[in-house]
Amino acid sequence: MSPYTWRPMGAADIDAVVAVAAACFPDHFEARACFEERLALFPQGCFALSSEGVVKGYLIAYPWPLGAIPPLNSSLGALPEERETFYLHDLALHPDVRGQGHARPIVERLSGALSAMEGRSLALVSVNDSVAFWRGMGFEPVVGDAAITRKLESYGGGSTYMVRAIGW
Ligand SMILES: CC(C)(COP(=O)(O)OP(=O)(O)OC[C@H]1O[C@@H](n2cnc3c(N)ncnc32)[C@H](O)[C@@H]1OP(=O)(O)O)[C@@H](O)C(=O)NCCC(=O)NCCS
Repeated sequence: MSPYTWRPMGAADIDAVVAVAAACFPDHFEARACFEERLALFPQGCFALSSEGVVKGYLIAYPWPLGAIPPLNSSLGALPEERETFYLHDLALHPDVRGQGHARPIVERLSGALSAMEGRSLALVSVNDSVAFWRGMGFEPVVGDAAITRKLESYGGGSTYMVRAIGW
């Protein structure tokens, strides 16, 4: 059984989180400052997969309007006030810890936490051929407007905007 477990992310995890991101998203570089900012803005949506001080995965989510995609590798500045719609910015596991059942529990934990905040929907941009994986996590592709289509182009070919309901 894997010794790795999910816990809230802390500032001391950022180096490892940046390293996991670089390994998992070679085509979508984001600067360290982006990770620091998201943790500072919404720590409730940031989790690290760790064992004995070693971090091998992370998840970052925060409030964001439905139908809008946050800019890649940029500061957000501030988050929207409303807490109904959220954006799952990244879920990434180092190859060493994939296929060990770590993905679903953190998606469900996040969904539960957002539901407790009266969250209604959770959106993401699927990259790395992950549409089928995200479907399995309850997300469905959504056809966006021209602005979404343009933003998706900046993520490279094959990126898909997907949404799942949370709460009832
Ligand atoms: C995407 C990622 C987080 C998945 O983690 P993982 O440990 O490899 O996930 P698994 O293969 O164990 O699958 C987790 C679950 O999804 C399901 N799943 C995986 N691939 C699937 C597919 N193609 N179709 C349907 N279900 C799928 C598995 O059956 C499993 O279901 P279970 O929880 O009921 O057992 C991981 O591969 C990763 O970090 N990739 C690099 C970063 C990335 O691409 N992140 C997502 C981009 S938006």
